Amino acid sequence: MSKVAVIGAGFVGLTTAVYLAEVGHSVACSDTNVERIRSLRNGIVPFSEELLQEQIAKLTNSQNLTFSSSNLEAIDKASYIFLCLPTPSMLDGSADVSILENVVDEIKGYVPVGSHVVIKSTVPVGTTRALQKRFGRSDCEVIANPEFLREGQALRDSRSPDRVVVGSAKRSLAVDISDLFCYSTCPLVATDFETAELIKYASNSYLAMRLSFVNEISTLARLVGASSSTLMTGLSLDKRIGSQFLNPGPGWGGSCFPKDTRALVEIARNVDFELDLVQATIEANQRHQRRIAKLIVDSVQSKDPRVAVLGLTFKAGTSDLRESPSIRIVTELCNSGISVSAYDPTCLPSSVDLGPNLRIVGSALEACDRADALVVLTEWSEFSHVSPSVAARAMRNRVVIDARGILSSEEWRAEGFSFIGVCND
Ligand code: UGA
Repeated sequence: MSKVAVIGAGFVGLTTAVYLAEVGHSVACSDTNVERIRSLRNGIVPFSEELLQEQIAKLTNSQNLTFSSSNLEAIDKASYIFLCLPTPSMLDGSADVSILENVVDEIKGYVPVGSHVVIKSTVPVGTTRALQKRFGRSDCEVIANPEFLREGQALRDSRSPDRVVVGSAKRSLAVDISDLFCYSTCPLVATDFETAELIKYASNSYLAMRLSFVNEISTLARLVGASSSTLMTGLSLDKRIGSQFLNPGPGWGGSCFPKDTRALVEIARNVDFELDLVQATIEANQRHQRRIAKLIVDSVQSKDPRVAVLGLTFKAGTSDLRESPSIRIVTELCNSGISVSAYDPTCLPSSVDLGPNLRIVGSALEACDRADALVVLTEWSEFSHVSPSVAARAMRNRVVIDARGILSSEEWRAEGFSFIGVCND
């Protein structure tokens, strides 16, 4: 059992802290957001993420997991110190590493001799080496260990990742990290700092590129009268393509893909290289979101158009609204003069303010009230249970646009709806 400090109690930090405490380490998790620490001490996770809340309750009771608003208190006697801090986009798209730099400056004089400082944040190539220099400590190790967990299934991903990537000066350090996580069967990629950093950006950019392709090809399928869902089945059966990450939608978003694709383009520009494919991936995603918004605007013809929107988060299973395609699309609808009633199981009326044209309501049925069209923008499973006949009674016109492929086109058409499936047929 090791003494571990995790600095940063966001999705990555909190999940890492919980997982390491689960496997038996003594973990102190710190964040300078005092309010967040107070609520975590009371067992309340400040965002929606499955399993975290119940595990935190168990682990804090057993004293395996503690929370502190002092980074120095958390690192006291720690053998492993994980830095899980945000690297937000700057105006030019590059990642801002100043939060990490400030924490390094704060802790460098106090990091215990012989300890391992592990950078989990997504950082531009060269950052871990620069932070190692900034530490200026030859008596402790600096290690790059990018994170690949997904929001909505963060703890499950931590328990069984596809691979663990460790960038370090010595291979033995990579094995130490893998052992710390008790990943006995998980493939270990032991490499240098730069390769570890680039694997993270390349993974997210590749997945985003795949989705931009999927969204464009399913749009083409709709326009030429082909079946998008059968097309995806046809693609997925090629083992080289596989079936994951093939669901068309309203565009990709969240706190990672948009930020990381922009940052990768900038990383390349810094060495005078244009990553045209990643740039095209970003632009295709923006165009796709505008296309979906136009599809909705064109589907409502009334003088005072009203649209019911189901789903505001960037995907199901999270309360995260950051760079959500739904928010982008709803903004365009509101700007076109459409009154939007939106429902999302994780959003309170105060969570989004886009002016008087957006009203956030408490149920799917309430959103349907006198609507000209019903639009599904996030794949919450409860939306697939909305009854077409009940919706039809509440709505003014019978148009449904399913941007996530979760509704049954037959059932909605049987109720007299004009059904536009962005993903299904
Ligand atoms: C993503 C990566 O999948 C993780 O591996 C990575 O660790 C994380 O970013 C990060 O860098 O922190 P996440 O942002 O939680 O995870 O979301 P994803 O599940 O990857 O979804 C991203 C976007 O793609 C969402 O808008 C989602 O709706 C969309 N998506 C995903 C689709 O439209 N279709 C799909 O088939 C899959």
